[in-house]
This record gives sequence, structure tokens and C-alpha cells, in this order.
Amino acid sequence: MRLTVFGTGYLGATHAVCMAELGHDVLGVDIDADKIAALTRGQVPFHEPGLPEMLASNLASGRLGFTTSYREAADFADVHFLAVGTPQKKGEYAADLRHVHSVVDTLAPLLVESALVVGKSTVPVGTAAELRRRICATAPAGDAVELAWNPEFLREGHAVQDTLHPDRLVVGVDRDRPGRAERILRQVYAQSLREDTPFVLTDLATAELVKGAANAFLATKVSFINAVAEICEAAGADVTVLADALGHDARIGRRYLNAGLGFGGGCLPKDIRAFMARAGELGVDQALSFLREVDNINMRRRSKVVQLVTAACGGSLLGVNVAVLGAAFKPESDDVRDSPALNVAGMMQLHGATVTVYDPEATANSRRVFPTLDYATSTSEACDNADAILIATEWNEFRALRPEDLAALVRSRSIVDARNCLDPAQWRDAGWTYRGMGR
Ligand code: UGA
Repeated sequence: MRLTVFGTGYLGATHAVCMAELGHDVLGVDIDADKIAALTRGQVPFHEPGLPEMLASNLASGRLGFTTSYREAADFADVHFLAVGTPQKKGEYAADLRHVHSVVDTLAPLLVESALVVGKSTVPVGTAAELRRRICATAPAGDAVELAWNPEFLREGHAVQDTLHPDRLVVGVDRDRPGRAERILRQVYAQSLREDTPFVLTDLATAELVKGAANAFLATKVSFINAVAEICEAAGADVTVLADALGHDARIGRRYLNAGLGFGGGCLPKDIRAFMARAGELGVDQALSFLREVDNINMRRRSKVVQLVTAACGGSLLGVNVAVLGAAFKPESDDVRDSPALNVAGMMQLHGATVTVYDPEATANSRRVFPTLDYATSTSEACDNADAILIATEWNEFRALRPEDLAALVRSRSIVDARNCLDPAQWRDAGWTYRGMGR
């Protein structure tokens, strides 16, 4: 099939590359000429394991191309995916839909024949119905252009695997026009369907809500265990053992139950806020008011980590050296959007600490957001003369650290494990003061 993908960020670039990998002819479209030039050269503008190799092989096969031209895209295919970002509006909880609107308003007037537009971006419920009206009103092909909503559940760091082998496909279609959109999307995802991936066919509103609800549930799960971690801290219990025990109950499950510094990134924080904002617009704000508490619990983890490091440094951060290991919002990503790690690093600096950050992949992005922090190029450089070490992102190279690797470098043997990814006994036995989160 011939497909286009509008937007070449984490979602769009991955989708474009993976659709080509599945054998489709794909054109990725973006207004950012630098991004398009990089992708055309075979460079992925962000860190995503496996994606560069797959981009290169699909460029070489001739199945994948990139352009800034909407006209070229409209002529190239009759199935168009929307994969642009929907960030949080400045000073508001609601999602900013300007990129989605801009793609639709530019593309629709170029659609002269029947086509299918497939939304993948995370949007407030009701957006798809509004976009459908907008497209039909401005496309020369009018009603011959259909709209479907196919939310994306990929995780950064696992984006290729999640796109090629999703755990479910959700497709929302126009209730009044069943058939064609479903048929086309079944063809697009034929390979996944052969692997028995569940295919959930529904209306536009339900499809939009599935995504909002999924991220709200995940955020709630993390904040739930972090709230329990607060109790564990007060009671002298161990939240990691507690989570293992809870996880044996198949109804609860162990995944996504890691207490620590909490969630960040470009999705969960803004998605729960947009979900609350939309509930308010629909007159049912009470239904989601608990998400405000989910957000509060999450933000409290960041202050808690600052307190733990302060305690590790004898009660004040003034004039101390803190090594922060990890800046990305999660491992295997260079994304620092709403990163808890960088947030904590910034707060400690405000309290007078000299903060040196090391991350295996996210240093360039971190520098842009927080130019005043010091950045090291290795763990040992960051830990040189440190009064405390903070593990803020659980990269494998930090999980593998041994106390004896760092003992000779630091000024004080004190480590705060904000991701509960180290073995406390190993560090304590080696003479370190170990502080975890809720353990
Ligand atoms: C999240 C969802 O997991 C995806 O399904 C969704 O498609 C995506 O958002 C999106 O909306 O685009 P992602 O933001 O890549 O994916 O990251 P996650 O792996 O979900 O982690 C989010 C945050 O939660 C990270 O900061 C992570 O450290 C934190 N987390 C996760 C915990 O603190 N504890 C856990 O047990 C799990």
C-alpha cells in the first residue's frame, strides 16, 4: 500500500519507518526541513534503539522517503496518517491542537480524490468528529474523504517492537460509514493481524478515549505505588517487596508498579491533564478529579528526592557536590521533556548544590533545557569529589555500578537510589549510606 505519515517526531518517524518495514511504500512529511533532511540522510533525530538500522534499510530499499511538500504527499497516497504532537497548552491543562489543525487545514484542500485520513495523535475526545467536519468542508473530494482514529500505544525506548508487534490495534471509524476504513486499516496492519493481535473496532469517540484512559490508568498505577511508598517510608517497610507480592495477583500485575521518582516525559503528565480538562468541558470534571491527586503524588516524589539528597549531605545542599546519574525521563531514551531527573537536578542547584549530570544519551537535550547545570561525559567524571550520588534514571550502566567502582572517587560514600534499581545490601555492606524510595 502507499501511505503518508504527517509528523516525524517519536511517533511519526517510528510509524513511517515501521510501515515501510511491513512492506508498504511510505512518505514521511514534516514542515521542519532540517528533520526531513536528517531522516533522508538516514539519521534519526532522537535516540531510539533499532530505529536507525531500520531507517537505513528501508531508505535503501526505496520503500521510504521524506518530504516537506504537502502536495507531493497528497498525490503520493490515499491513506494519510496524522502523527503530530499535541503538547500541553501554556498555563492550561488542555491539549494544544494547533499542529493537528495545521496539518488538516493544509492537507484537506489538496485531497481531490477519495482518501482515508487516520489520526494517531493523542487528542481530547471529540476532536476526530470535529476534524471530520473540517476535512469534508474543505477537501475538493468532500465526503469521499473519510476519517478514522487509530491511537498509538508505543513506549519510547521500545517504539519499534511496539509498532511492529502491538498488543492491540484500536480503530475508531465513522458510525455512519462502516466498511471501507476498517478494510483499509486491516490491510495496513495485515501482518500484525496474522499474529492474532486483537483488533478493536469502535466509534471515533471511544477510540480517542481508549488512549486517554490507558495513559490515565498507567499514571494512576505509578502514583498508587508511590503513595504506598510514602506509607512504607513512614512505617519502615519495603515497597519493592510489597510490589512483588502485589504483582503475584494476576488482577494487579507486577508491571508498571515500580516506585521511585515517578513518571515524566512527553505523554503521561500532559495526557492526564488534558484528560481532566476535557472532562471539565464535558461537565463531568468530578469523574477525573482523582487524577489531580495522581499528579500531586507524582510531583511530591521529586521533592522527596531533594529531601533525601539533602539529608545525605548532612541537612543542607549549600556548597555540596551532587552527582546526578541520569537525565532522560526513562532509560533507552534521550527525551528530557518533563524529566523528573532534570527537575530534581534543577531544584538541588537552586538550593545551592553544585550539580553534575551524566546521562549516556540525553546530555545534548539536557543542555538545551538546563544550560546552567554542569554536565559530565562519564559516571566517574560526574562522581568525582561528590558528597552524594543520585541515581535518577535507571539506565543499565547505572544498575551495573559496583560500590568499589566509585568509592575512591567520591568525597562521601552516600548514594540515593531514586529508581530503586540497586541492591541496598551490596552498597551498605561496602560501607555506603544507601537511601532508596520507600524501602
Ligand atoms: C507512555 C505509555 O506507556 C505508552 O503506552 C504511550 O503510548 C505513550 O506514553 C504515549 O502516550 O505516547 P512513555 O512515555 O514512552 O509511554 O513511557 P513509559 O514507559 O510509560 O514511562 C513513563 C514514565 O513513568 C517514565 O518516567 C517512567 O520512569 C515512569 N514509570 C514507569 C515509573 O516511575 N514506574 C513504573 O513502574 C513505570
